[in-house]
Amino acid sequence: MEKILQKIVYDNKRYTEYGNVATYIPELRKANKNDLGICIIDMDNNIYEAGNCNEKFTIQSVSKPITLALALMDNGKDKVFSKVGMEPSGDPFNSIMKLETSKPSIPYNPMINAGAIMITSMIKGRNNGDKLNRMMNFFKNLSGNKNLSVNEDVYMSEKLTGDRNRAMAYFLKSEGILTENVEDVLDLYFKQCSIEVTVRDLARIGVNLAGNGIDILTRKRLIDEDVSKVVKTFMVTCGMYDASGEYAINVGIPSKSGVGGGIMGTVPNKMGIGVFGPSLDEKGNSIAGIKSMESVSQKFGLSIF
Ligand code: DON
Repeated sequence: MEKILQKIVYDNKRYTEYGNVATYIPELRKANKNDLGICIIDMDNNIYEAGNCNEKFTIQSVSKPITLALALMDNGKDKVFSKVGMEPSGDPFNSIMKLETSKPSIPYNPMINAGAIMITSMIKGRNNGDKLNRMMNFFKNLSGNKNLSVNEDVYMSEKLTGDRNRAMAYFLKSEGILTENVEDVLDLYFKQCSIEVTVRDLARIGVNLAGNGIDILTRKRLIDEDVSKVVKTFMVTCGMYDASGEYAINVGIPSKSGVGGGIMGTVPNKMGIGVFGPSLDEKGNSIAGIKSMESVSQKFGLSIF
């Protein structure tokens, strides 16, 4: 298995040349464009890795399905989906366009930035510090990594330059959809995106979703079964943004990408997959990461369709 993964990394590394690392968050410019790493964890906790699998990177939008799970367990489906829709937007992840033209002005889904910011605003806690603790503990439990932490440089970089996200959040507040303090919500959202992970952390979260929320090692239930199913469905329909359709055809694995270069895949009842390749295509998805997911899916016959 590890030999096959090594070959997949070797074969797909050349695609890193065709993309670029994210630059709109200045700190992300520092990533090494040619990195490519992959980790697979199966339901028996066998771990297979290849390439730059020890590299740390920020989770970015791969965090969105995870906070969605927490917000759904905190609030229930009815409340959450009264504030965020369930449909693919077909627009880029940071688009503002449809917010004003759709009535009610709720974000299309929880995977685009506007929707994810709404979701973060629904995480429960006595104050922002308490919300951050609850969120971090949830990520730590799901990844089995008690040492997860926020990369302070990326967090500050994003906080200083996140005006587009700020614009969306203030718009949602003006419409009475977002009810919390905007700066507090954004602070939590920027920290959520700046959590540092490796492909192994993503694979472990992926395999825990594959088993519908029961941790593969502790056997504790971390996510309600129905919530886990909702989350995976969004990963299929919206996980790769406006490339989700093509990805579903070519890869067929519920997945979520982030501009840090990560992709998390979850193959129901089989395995979790973490990929890292910071060179991105024009839609903000890891270019060699998508190609590697394609290879993994084909090689092991993993498409769910
Ligand atoms: O809000 C942002 O712009 C980033 N923190 C996350 C965006 C992201 O990862 C989009 N992914 N492809």
